[in-house]
Amino acid sequence: MMSNPDRCRNVDDFRLLAKRRLPAPVFHYIDGAADDEVTYRRNTESFEACDLVPNVLAGVENVDMSVEVMGCKLDMPVFCSPTALQRLFHADGERGVGRAAEKFGTLFGVSSLSTVSLAEIGALTKGPKLFQFYFHKDRGLNQALIAKATAAQFDVLALTVDTITGGNRERDLKTGFSSPPRFTPSNVLSFALHPGWSLGMAFGEKFELVELKDFYSEGSREPISISGYFSSVLDQSMSWRDAENIRAQWSGAFCLKGVMSVEDAKKAVDIGADAIMVSNHGGRQLDGSRAPFDQIAEITDAVGDRIDVILDGGVRRGTHVLKALAAGAKACSGGRLYLYALAGAGQKGVEKTLSNLRDEIERDMKLMGVTDLAALNRDMLRYR
Ligand code: FNR
Ligand code: LAC
Repeated sequence: MMSNPDRCRNVDDFRLLAKRRLPAPVFHYIDGAADDEVTYRRNTESFEACDLVPNVLAGVENVDMSVEVMGCKLDMPVFCSPTALQRLFHADGERGVGRAAEKFGTLFGVSSLSTVSLAEIGALTKGPKLFQFYFHKDRGLNQALIAKATAAQFDVLALTVDTITGGNRERDLKTGFSSPPRFTPSNVLSFALHPGWSLGMAFGEKFELVELKDFYSEGSREPISISGYFSSVLDQSMSWRDAENIRAQWSGAFCLKGVMSVEDAKKAVDIGADAIMVSNHGGRQLDGSRAPFDQIAEITDAVGDRIDVILDGGVRRGTHVLKALAAGAKACSGGRLYLYALAGAGQKGVEKTLSNLRDEIERDMKLMGVTDLAALNRDMLRYR
């Protein structure tokens, strides 16, 4: 079994490492999704149901995999989606992911539920950064978050729009997962059987949702499920008018994360968004939602000439990225593709998984007969 990240050759190897290292409630919070997890599986299967048709003899000694997306120049066409609670997975947390993303010249997405402050992250890494904004009932909190992201010189603000209420995360219900973690009869043994993680949590840096703790006790001092957080503190009346108002308050690139329909993609253009992340939240919200890769062509046909379209979710391989770009996406993003690595091996793990993906993208471009990403097109795809 791998315990050395250098021996982890792909996302699945890191998933096994994370499963070994984490108490069950924490692993299943990352690995799990909503209801029967049909969408979660389809997110990756949709790539596997599409074949590539390569060209050859194209002279591919040097390839350029850089992209410009949301006003940021990235050295590789896949970036780290914003994910919550990172110091719960490994003490390196957002500090480790931010440093790894900077090292690979890609975008670092930071959640509203970050366990490191936006100010510290802004000082820590000069790489491109995206702040993922949750629209809370508490308007003072919303204003504070935007002000802090501005002061920390984040490049992009991404308003998450697919969490108007919590998805049905049945694994979390079964394990009793909460933030911060609480022991229950069903999970106390799992925490006891992972002393490395448990002692780190007990005696390491205090776990808290740094940007939220002064507004809500839930999540930092008071255990709450993630679905409970969505349902109790996020504003379920959020509308296009609210999105437009947030756009007006943010001077950087503005993105809507969680758009799936052509109608909404067009509305995103109308309110002046610079980008959309076509995403179903990794299958963690509406199970039965279509996979981003199944949906990406009709979205990019409708708005791809007016807004950056990013495919978010299900990406586990370099070929997945090339298929998404051939279908019309500008770039890809993912959570679990780096979270398993963070949980299993901290910053070193995230660096290794980004290195694996970069090597795969380079190899796959050469085998596809392309030297730059603009050459990728739908003629290279065959859906089964
Ligand atoms: C997430 N995701 C997420 N999205 C968001 O807008 N704010 C958040 O705080 C989080 N937190 C979070 C935690 C964990 C453990 C996971 C797995 C995911 C969703 C994330 O940004 C992204 O949309 C999905 O992870 C994409 O699917 P894949 O790449 O994980 O398959
Ligand atoms: C999740 C939230 C935090 O998917 O976005 O867990």
